[in-house]
Amino acid sequence: MHGGSAGGAPVLVVGSGVAGLCTALAAAPRPVLLVGRGRQAEDSASVLAQGGIAAALAADDSVAAHVEDTLAAGAWHNDHARVRLLAGAAADAVAWLEAQGVAFDRRGRTLRLAREGGHRCARVVHAGGDASGARMVAALGEAARRASHIHWRGGVDVHGLELRGGRVTAACLRALHDDGAGPVDEWIEVADVVLATGGIGALFARTTNPVVADGAGLALAMAAGAVVADLEFVQFHPTALDAPGHSLPLVTEALRGAGARLLDATGRPLMAGRHPQGDLAPRDVVARAVWEAGRQGGGVRLDARGPGIDWERAFPTVLAHCLAYGIDPRTRPIPVAPAAHFHMGGVVTDALGRSSIPGLHAVGEVACTGVHGANRLASNSLLEGVVFGRRLGAHLAQSVPAAVDGGAVRRVLRGPDLDAPALVRLSDLLSAAAGPVRTAAGLAAALAEAGDLASSGWQAELAAALLRAARDRRGSLGAHWLDDSLVREQA
Ligand code: SIN
Repeated sequence: MHGGSAGGAPVLVVGSGVAGLCTALAAAPRPVLLVGRGRQAEDSASVLAQGGIAAALAADDSVAAHVEDTLAAGAWHNDHARVRLLAGAAADAVAWLEAQGVAFDRRGRTLRLAREGGHRCARVVHAGGDASGARMVAALGEAARRASHIHWRGGVDVHGLELRGGRVTAACLRALHDDGAGPVDEWIEVADVVLATGGIGALFARTTNPVVADGAGLALAMAAGAVVADLEFVQFHPTALDAPGHSLPLVTEALRGAGARLLDATGRPLMAGRHPQGDLAPRDVVARAVWEAGRQGGGVRLDARGPGIDWERAFPTVLAHCLAYGIDPRTRPIPVAPAAHFHMGGVVTDALGRSSIPGLHAVGEVACTGVHGANRLASNSLLEGVVFGRRLGAHLAQSVPAAVDGGAVRRVLRGPDLDAPALVRLSDLLSAAAGPVRTAAGLAAALAEAGDLASSGWQAELAAALLRAARDRRGSLGAHWLDDSLVREQA
């Protein structure tokens, strides 16, 4: 990544996870300004991803089977054509990543394939075992550093957009980490803006996401008037390490694919008799079972002591996290709990990543391409970032926008941040009302409270939009699960 870029106003890519990096790389030769809130180019949720890339590469697998599993996990709420596009592009995405320097795990010359929840067969390639996301971001980050069209700036938030004649023409960058001198705002001219800002997990009390995944990009798009959809669909990962704190280490689903089993408080298999795929049922099903068991007291443990689990090769990240908390998973079951993991909803885009606002694009978790439906299939998110990032980048490479002359100028800002106590209150509220199991009454009460906070900060405004979408969806679907028996119990 270089210090300057010739050729007019840049494409501004906001976020340096897998989706942002793929877009930036594919946009050559357009000049790209890649910004992120972290100090490092690689600060993103992608780095924490332990799952890999789902691709129908096994002899007994097919793109059609990958499509069917994606639709079944997504409760058939998906955009079927986009799902076919995603699954059909998966093998090429793996080959392209290898060409970028990602060394996927192999046995001899053959790619190793792992099984995760909702997949009917082993279909997931990993790199460095459960360090897949970190390995991908490292390789793509290195490629971006070498690319002369990409200029990187860290410690920067984008909190405003300028629209001229309805098209995005400028963005407001706010420098963070400014050594106490207060934030410095700078409006810069841009040719296009790509939001690759990730999800909203950090708005919940417990999440597998980093703190930067707080929905800031989504809130900015909403402030500008972009069309959004499916905000109510929040995926909870059933097995975060049950430790104190907000951002919890993930305990990858691939462990269950390798034979680990969830046990209830009495030591019985939690998923027995609940779903034909048992421990490898789609994630929403398992998350609800873990949530329900937690509510009844006693907690849930993942027993990963089986002989089939090669900790050092396949699960070094989980092993290190567990040991850091004083748990040796080779000798005792791991305490687990559900935590907010992935947002299926977001900024509505077409198949090229274009939002409803000319010049504003979205890719990766912040986007709603329709591929995930009401509940994402495991290891389809990094895949989405690669496939749709490359498509969007290639589209941008070929389409330099004409200069906008005239038209009304409108500047929009995301708005003030909530203060720390209000943020804690909001995250407790969201977690209680919009968790893996919801009630109509709980959603209505939380919406009233979030609505009261909305004028104090954008996070509450975003939470209120999510709660409103959840309130308005009357039946259960995928990750949005209403259980009105809870209302009767609570009455
Ligand atoms: C996991 O490794 O369990 C998470 C994978 C994913 O989110 O797709």
